[in-house]
Amino acid sequence: MSIPRLERIWLTIGGTMLVAFLAILLVTAVATGAAPPSGMTTIDPSTVLSSGMFASPGVKQTGPHEYTVHVAALYPAFAPSAITVPVGAKVTFHIATKDVVHGFEIVGTDVNVMVIPGYVSDVTHTFPHKGTYLILCNEYCGNLHHLMSATLTVV
Ligand code: CUA
Repeated sequence: MSIPRLERIWLTIGGTMLVAFLAILLVTAVATGAAPPSGMTTIDPSTVLSSGMFASPGVKQTGPHEYTVHVAALYPAFAPSAITVPVGAKVTFHIATKDVVHGFEIVGTDVNVMVIPGYVSDVTHTFPHKGTYLILCNEYCGNLHHLMSATLTVV
């Protein structure tokens, strides 16, 4: 089978671009240590509510300016539904679900993770300004998905 000359040229250009883009992706991923922000810790979904971390979800101070917030995504709500953290503190969120896939987005920030059954999603953020933020589930999780929200107050 012979391939016309122009088609060979376009195939070469397309193939070269594909290889170049994959190489750029690989090099930048390795050079910057790019990785998903979470999903390294596993948890049995059936034990989320009885396990140590999520049995009493909420804010805990772990250092002079460091806090952890455990959030349980329980269709169709987050527990706790109201979170308060101090301004300027390093806040690490750990989120787990006992049912289906949810999202955890703090509107107006770059905090936006999927919450997948079986995994703990971790994300760290520092809030530079006081204010009230809306936390949304942005993965469709059922008929009541639109009700799934919480508030975060930075004081
Ligand atoms: Cu949870 Cu949508």
